[in-house]
Amino acid sequence: MSNTTITEAQFRDALRQVNDPEIGRSLVDLDMVENVVLGANNSATVTIELPTPAYPRRERLAESIRAVLAGKFENIGPVEVQFHAKVKGKETGGAIGLRAKNVIAVGSGKGGVGKSTVATSIAVGLQLAGAKVGLMDADIYGPSVPHLLGVNQRPEIVEQKGPDGQTIRRIQPIDANGLKVMSIGFLVAPDEPVIVRGPILHGTIRQFLAETAWGDLDYLIIDLPPGTGDIALTLSQLLGLAGAVVVCTPQQLALLDAVKAINMFRKVKIPVLGIVENMSGDVFGRGGARQKAAEMGVPFLGEIPIDAQIRVNGDAGQIAASFDAGSTSRGPLMNVCEQTAIQIAKSLLETPSMPTLEIL
Ligand SMILES: Nc1ncnc2c1ncn2[C@@H]1O[C@H](COP(=O)(O)OP(=O)(O)OP(=O)(O)O)[C@@H](O)[C@H]1O
Ligand SMILES: [Mg+2]
Repeated sequence: MSNTTITEAQFRDALRQVNDPEIGRSLVDLDMVENVVLGANNSATVTIELPTPAYPRRERLAESIRAVLAGKFENIGPVEVQFHAKVKGKETGGAIGLRAKNVIAVGSGKGGVGKSTVATSIAVGLQLAGAKVGLMDADIYGPSVPHLLGVNQRPEIVEQKGPDGQTIRRIQPIDANGLKVMSIGFLVAPDEPVIVRGPILHGTIRQFLAETAWGDLDYLIIDLPPGTGDIALTLSQLLGLAGAVVVCTPQQLALLDAVKAINMFRKVKIPVLGIVENMSGDVFGRGGARQKAAEMGVPFLGEIPIDAQIRVNGDAGQIAASFDAGSTSRGPLMNVCEQTAIQIAKSLLETPSMPTLEIL
């Protein structure tokens, strides 16, 4: 059939055989084939809609498409593959007026494992990939996001028009190079203790979610305080989260704490997106979290090596510098961002949206 013209129907049919290498299902079933334009001599331009701009190794997908087409049609011309990303999500913040497609909580069982570093890095990385991202510091007692990003302005209160024309007051999040950030650290002096108890804690978290002028977000990342499940419970009562990222270090004890954190998230009905091993490669070794993730039946989202530059950047309020071209941590950090976004895309295929718990 070397002289025959390939029809669009034949071409689209062949694309059924291309599996998305990340999600493992047919591009057609995933509704990822956005457009097909056939040209002279059986050349073609295919536009693929990715579920996240943080989609890893696009070229690999382009190669699978070309390989399947070449196997199917011996007379195929050059195939150009174009990409375009559209983040999908559960968009469950409607009841409290939050317009974030996916809300991701970052937690751990144990303090000091690098939760805030990882949460902030996930936010920065997803934003660098091209997503609209917010970062909310829910560590009411020890906020560290302002310090990591080097921002500490006091947020302004803005007035907006509500749906019925009424005036509503909103807190303007701080803009950190395009990342929208909110933290209790912006509202109190750094040396002032924050005294927040049960019901007020719930109210503060609710206010941060509902009364911050986040605008439309693809991802809202929430940095949780260590340990207790209070805030996780509050979050799950207010909205359906895309899921939680559990951070741990390679030590055996930290791994046990990670198991506790996973069980805690499960108890409050927040799906676990996966585990990140942070400070990998120190004297306690590496790889323990990957194994623990397999045992617990949760995805492994990657390892972030112990790297003095990550600490130096965080201390200098320059955490985004860890993503600079040539930075050794860029690859591992971006990998965690990509795997987190891919797990969300996968989970959207598997589960119907998780209902919000009744407010107790
Ligand atoms: N991969 C890494 N390599 C080197 N240092 C790191 C790494 N990750 C985090 N750190 C450092 O470890 C310290 C603790 O990190 P971080 O504040 O992010 O932890 P945390 O879990 O949020 O702590 P807390 O429980 O107090 O909220 C910081 O000094 C940070 O710079
Ligand atoms: Mg922290």
